[in-house]
Amino acid sequence: MDIDYGKLIEQEGIQSIVLTDIDNEAIKESLSYLKLQSQKIQVSSFDYLGKKSYIDDMQKLVIELNRNEVTKEIAVNKVEEFFDTLLKSMEDESYLDYIGNKFDLCIILPIYTQMLYLQLDDALKKTKGYRFIKGLLLQKMIHIIDCFNRNVVKCINRDGYLFDLSDIIEEALSNQDGSLHNNATLDSRESATIDTMKKIEAYEKTYGVGLGSFGLINICEYLIEHEAYYYEWTFSPKRRFLVKGLLLSRSSNQ
Ligand SMILES: C[S@@+](CC[C@H](N)C(=O)[O-])C[C@H]1O[C@@H](n2cnc3c(N)ncnc32)[C@H](O)[C@@H]1O
Repeated sequence: MDIDYGKLIEQEGIQSIVLTDIDNEAIKESLSYLKLQSQKIQVSSFDYLGKKSYIDDMQKLVIELNRNEVTKEIAVNKVEEFFDTLLKSMEDESYLDYIGNKFDLCIILPIYTQMLYLQLDDALKKTKGYRFIKGLLLQKMIHIIDCFNRNVVKCINRDGYLFDLSDIIEEALSNQDGSLHNNATLDSRESATIDTMKKIEAYEKTYGVGLGSFGLINICEYLIEHEAYYYEWTFSPKRRFLVKGLLLSRSSNQ
């Protein structure tokens, strides 16, 4: 998300940067688009949801829940079963096994809203009892995000930091507004920061906390928060996300 890796690589003391995502090709394409070639950059592609692919189980769940005779009770059982298996697979996984060593700085770029939930929600939109199932999925995502966060924390050195960025709200832009921005940009000017913070606070007062905010609240159970940052992330001429970031570490006197 618009991190200037070129600048990061040049920083004194940076020995290596490891980029992770399930989508190996997307990382490679981005690196080639950004014309970034450095021995210091490594790519490690793996699934944050565990070694056992969840795709087959997810397809089975979607088929089951779309059967006409599914009662609330059956739906709860099937969803419980799916998430139990998934969590077990996540608990068995250590991200450290893939990336080798711990880091002085880990950066999480929007993932809480991207992992699994949107896929499932989309696949189940036409299911009978969708509203009930949606509530159930959101409850279950709490455990998935908690497990993800615990695994990330294990990848940080004792004196290391985590910069955790999360998209909280998506705003629709009028063409006129959006046409000012042709590329995805993270706007960190002070005016954008204050505006974003106010919009997020007002939104959460009215609608409550979504998965994006939950991820940040949850990580504070494991690390100490030092500073909060707010950004406007204009993704395309028509779409803008309001992003919150936290800088965290293991102890308060770092
Ligand atoms: C909003 S994008 C952020 C991409 C990238 N970090 C960046 O900043 O440009 C969310 C990313 O999450 C990745 N993702 C979704 N589910 C994942 C999973 N289970 N394991 C690993 N990566 C996943 C997607 O492939 C996608 O690239």
